[in-house]
Amino acid sequence: AANREQQIIVTESEPNSLSAWRDLSTHQRQVAALHMRDLFAADANRFQRFSLQACELFLDYSKNRITEESMTLLMGLARQTGVEAWRDRMFAGDIVNTSEQRAALHVALRQPPGRQFPSAAGDVMPEVEAARRRMGDISAALRAGRWTGYSGKAITSVVQIGIGGSHLGPEMAAQALAPGGGPSLAFVSSVDGASLAGALDGLAAETTLFIVVSKTFTTAETIANAESARAWLLEGGGYPKEAVARHFVAITANAAAATDFGIHRDNQLPLWDWVGGRFSLCSAVGLAVAVAAGMDAFDDMLAGAHDMDEHFLHAPLEENMPVVLGLLGVWYRNFFAAASRAVLPYDFCLRGLPAYLQQLEMESSGKSVGRDGDRLGFATCPVVWGASGNDGQHSFFQLLHQGSELVPCDFLVPARGVEGSAKHADALLANALGQAAALMQGRDSGETRAQLASQGLTPEAIEARLPHCRFAGNQPSNTLLYERLTPRRLGGLIALYEHRLFVQSVCWGVNAFDQWGVEFGKALAHRLVTEIGDGSSGDHDGSTAGLLARARQLRSGR
Ligand code: F6P
Repeated sequence: AANREQQIIVTESEPNSLSAWRDLSTHQRQVAALHMRDLFAADANRFQRFSLQACELFLDYSKNRITEESMTLLMGLARQTGVEAWRDRMFAGDIVNTSEQRAALHVALRQPPGRQFPSAAGDVMPEVEAARRRMGDISAALRAGRWTGYSGKAITSVVQIGIGGSHLGPEMAAQALAPGGGPSLAFVSSVDGASLAGALDGLAAETTLFIVVSKTFTTAETIANAESARAWLLEGGGYPKEAVARHFVAITANAAAATDFGIHRDNQLPLWDWVGGRFSLCSAVGLAVAVAAGMDAFDDMLAGAHDMDEHFLHAPLEENMPVVLGLLGVWYRNFFAAASRAVLPYDFCLRGLPAYLQQLEMESSGKSVGRDGDRLGFATCPVVWGASGNDGQHSFFQLLHQGSELVPCDFLVPARGVEGSAKHADALLANALGQAAALMQGRDSGETRAQLASQGLTPEAIEARLPHCRFAGNQPSNTLLYERLTPRRLGGLIALYEHRLFVQSVCWGVNAFDQWGVEFGKALAHRLVTEIGDGSSGDHDGSTAGLLARARQLRSGR
C-alpha cells in the first residue's frame, strides 16, 4: 500500500495520437456508409454476436454501426489508453482523482460486510459499515413509526433537502424502488421557494422529519432550504430550537457545520471526500431510499452494484458490459461527431434515470483539459438527455426518425412491468422494440410507396407525400432488457453507467472525479445575491446589468 500511495500516475500521450485512434478514424471512413439493415441481412447471427448478459441485465448492442473489426479496434483503444490499468488503480484505492489527489472509492460503498478495502485513505470499510448500520436503524425506526418528534408524535412525513448528487440519485432510486409503506417522502432541491412550499403543503411540523443531504454543507440552495425548513418547523410547532434535534437528520462530510445548524451528532451520517456527490447514492446519501423502500431493498441495490463492480473488474474487455457501452459512446462521439446521446427508459420506475445520468456523465467528463492540464484536441462528453421513451415517441422521436442528427440511444426495457396488466406490459414492450427497429431499419422509397398506396392515396398524392414519409434509418441504439426492475437490477444499472463513463474518461484522458467547472457560476451568483439583497449594483456586463435593472423594475411593479 505504501508504494502504491507514492504511485505517480504517469502522463500518458494524447489519446488521439495513438495508433488505435488513427486506425479507428480510417475504419470509420470505411464503414460510415454501411446501413445496419444490410449488416443484419449479411449476418444471421448478428444479434448473438453483439449481445451480452451480466448481472441479470441483457445488452443487445447489435443495432450499432459496427462490424467485428470496429469492436476489435475499439478494444485496442481501451488497451492503449490504459482502461484496465486505471480500473485496477481505482479498485485498488489508488489516487485516481488526480487534480484533488484523492482516491475514488464509490465501489467500497457496496462492498459486502466483513472485508477490508485498503486505499490511499486507509481501510475505509469500518466507517462504511458503521454508516450502513446507522442507516438501517434510522430507516427502520421511521418505517415502524418509532421515530417520534418533539411533541412525542410519530414522524409520518419525510422531506429530503439536497441538490445535484445529493438529490438526483436518491430521488431516482426512491421512485424506482416503488416505495412501499413507511412515511411519505418529498424531495426539495431548487432554491425556488415554490419547491419547499410544495413539499411542505399539507404537512404538520410535529410529524415531519427533514433529511439534509450535503457533502459540503455549504451549498447555498440546500442551506437556504434547510434554514427555511427549520424556521417552518420551529414556528409551525411553536418549538424551542432544541426541537431541531428530533426533526433533522444530516448526511454530510462537514459535521461541524451540521452541528452548528443544530443537528445532533447522533442524527448525522457521514460522507467522505473520497466519494464524489454524483457517485454517492450507495452511501448514506441513499437514506431516503431506505426510508422509502426499506433497508433490505437498499442492501439488495448495493449487492447488485457490487455484482456489476465484480463484472467490470474481472470480465474480459470483449465481454465487459461497461467497457462495450463506454467504447460505443466514444465511437459515436469521436468518430461520428455525434453531439448528444439519448437515454430512453421504457420503464416508468426509471423515469428519473435520464436526469441522474446527466449529472453522472456530464459532470464527470464534460471537460476540455486532460489529467495533466493540457487542452484536449478532440471532443469529450456529449450532451446527455432523455425522458420516458414511450412519452418521447409523442414529443421528440420525430427528430430521431427524420432529423439531421445522429443520436445514439439507450433503450431500457422491462420484459414485464412491476404494475398493471399484461395489456400494458405488452404495449410497452412492443413500443420499445418497434421504435428501436424503426430507427435502425428506416423505410425506403419502395416500402413507403407501398405504405402510402395501402392508405388509398392516388399515385400523384403518393409522389407528393413520398419525400416526407421516407425514413433513412441507421440511427443506432443499445437495448438493455431485464425481466422487471428490482433493487438488485437497479444497483447493477447504476454501477454499469458509473463504470461506462469511467471507461470513456480514460479513453479521453480526463479526470472523471473532479468538477471545477461548477464553481465559477456559483461565485457570480453569490455576488449577485448580495447586490439584489442590498440594492447595490456591481460591475457587470451590459446584459447582466440590464437584466438586473429590468428585474428590479418588474419587482417594483413598473
Ligand atoms: O455544484 C455541483 C455540486 O458540487 C455537485 O457535484 C454536488 O453533487 C452538488 O453540487 C451538491 O453538493 P453538496 O452535496 O456538497 O451539497
